[in-house]
Amino acid sequence: MDRVFIVSNLKSYKTESEAREWLESFKKIQQFQKGLGDKEIIVCPSFTTLFLFKAFIKENNLPVKIGAQNISPFDEGAYTGEVNAKQVRDFADYVLIGHSERRTNFGEKEDVLTKKVDLSLKYGLIPIFLIQDENTAVPKGVELIAYEPVFAIGSGNPDTPESANSVASFVKLKNKDYKILYGGSVTFDNVRAFTGKSEISGVLVGGASLNPDDFIQIIQNA
Ligand code: PGA
Repeated sequence: MDRVFIVSNLKSYKTESEAREWLESFKKIQQFQKGLGDKEIIVCPSFTTLFLFKAFIKENNLPVKIGAQNISPFDEGAYTGEVNAKQVRDFADYVLIGHSERRTNFGEKEDVLTKKVDLSLKYGLIPIFLIQDENTAVPKGVELIAYEPVFAIGSGNPDTPESANSVASFVKLKNKDYKILYGGSVTFDNVRAFTGKSEISGVLVGGASLNPDDFIQIIQNA
């Protein structure tokens, strides 16, 4: 069976105490560990709680990897306020790059996104590169892609599994080894319809993963 990626994007939510509560509740995932098969669970919290997530996951031996939501387009150096790939690598295995919220709110364009991908690869972080449609440019070296149409994000109005599957197969024409996830209003009710599609290798979940019980349900249903 191919690996199914189930990624939680906690966005700009969760204080330290809220993150601790989320983890305490999410710990139940241990009970389902045997049934997880080839599911790769990845949680992407804010920088401020990466340390907490790493320690908690290790202490409780949870079957979960950590992803960051962003990295600097610069390497380490005199870039006040930036968190770079080398620093993030201490905590995370993955990093989200190219989310539409960053493209829209922070003006991130292809050149910056390519720098981020290059730096993530330089330091051994796996980029999860987000595309908004089948024509979004994908930088070299990317293998894991998440297709998230803007209309579907946080709207309760997901793309159809059929459309997501055809976008995924179109993107794979450029590189058959791409693994494509779907994101945008994924819930425990609809997740299986996406992961059941031949060209879709998993899901990226925002809002519905803010509640740890819902996220566990998504993992089980995927
Ligand atoms: P959503 O967000 O699940 O809340 O639609 C997905 C995302 O933006 O990654």
